[in-house]
Amino acid sequence: MKSYSLIAPGKINLYLEIIGDRADGFHELVMILQSIELADVIDLKSNDTQGITLHCNHSQVPVDETNLAYRAAQLMCTTFADSYANYGGVDITIAKNLPVAAGLAGGSADAAAVLVGMDLMWNLGLTQPELQDLAAKLGSDVPFCISGGTAIATGRGEKLDLISNLNSLWVILAKYKNLSVSTPWAYQTYRKNYRNSYVSDVEGIISRSDRVRSGDLMNAIVELARSLAPIGGAGSLVKQKGRKIGELLYNDLEKVVLPEYPKVAELRDIFADKRVLGTMMSGSGPTVFALCENEDQAEEVANQVRDTIVDSDLELWVTKLGSSGIQVA
Ligand code: C5P
Repeated sequence: MKSYSLIAPGKINLYLEIIGDRADGFHELVMILQSIELADVIDLKSNDTQGITLHCNHSQVPVDETNLAYRAAQLMCTTFADSYANYGGVDITIAKNLPVAAGLAGGSADAAAVLVGMDLMWNLGLTQPELQDLAAKLGSDVPFCISGGTAIATGRGEKLDLISNLNSLWVILAKYKNLSVSTPWAYQTYRKNYRNSYVSDVEGIISRSDRVRSGDLMNAIVELARSLAPIGGAGSLVKQKGRKIGELLYNDLEKVVLPEYPKVAELRDIFADKRVLGTMMSGSGPTVFALCENEDQAEEVANQVRDTIVDSDLELWVTKLGSSGIQVA
């Protein structure tokens, strides 16, 4: 019997611009995605019962086929029917460390880990692009979760190009435990309110994609990585480049989520008043993140926010930006 333990890091969106409508009903996007070190741990074990079981230590996480990790195992079983017949099913155990329904791709990361782990368990030898093609069938964020790091994502979010790594910075994540935002609701509301800015024909999408505003942020990321290259990097230069990145954070979905969820808007305002590089809502929310120069600054600001918002429902995490996707533990 074979078993694997995998680390499944979450992500934040440093940039999310909605370009227009796609023929498949999704939105054409330009995003800059960034892994974080905060991660779930997924244990996989071959079983000979020809079935899939899922266990999770978090009560809000479903353990049936509504869970994306479960669907990832089903996809592997149907795509590689011979291996399924040969090795049997799989028992999946998720140790949840990432906040649930948070805009941090926790479910997508778990599904990515199942694809990578079953590839190893079944000795399939799939390449990263092959794994990412399977991942795209499950959800727009799953391909990025496989490779991780810092990447520009286009199309539905599944076309990825790696850019210089940003893993010297730290981040505070803040989320109200009982607050969740539906991703389809956020995109549908954006479509309703901003349809007149959409382009939907192929040529329009290409020419609009050439005019996205993510270029400045990409340049700032590359410059920060360069300023770190000399041993240790120059502290003030890193701070200056980090601030530039903070100023250029962008998320179109804030336009619909913040007015509807004043507690999320308030959280963002409070971070904006603190000594951080920048703050933004991640994905469709409701997590708000604040970029920080180092761990000490992140811990200090997290404590200040805990003192400012006295609400037992508010949860805060401090983690480093990450450089990798799914890893074997
Ligand atoms: O791909 P995923 O399942 O993560 O998407 C969740 C929802 O987000 C979709 O059902 C859709 O409403 C919206 N979405 C979108 N365009 C994208 C990605 C997601 O409209 N590129």
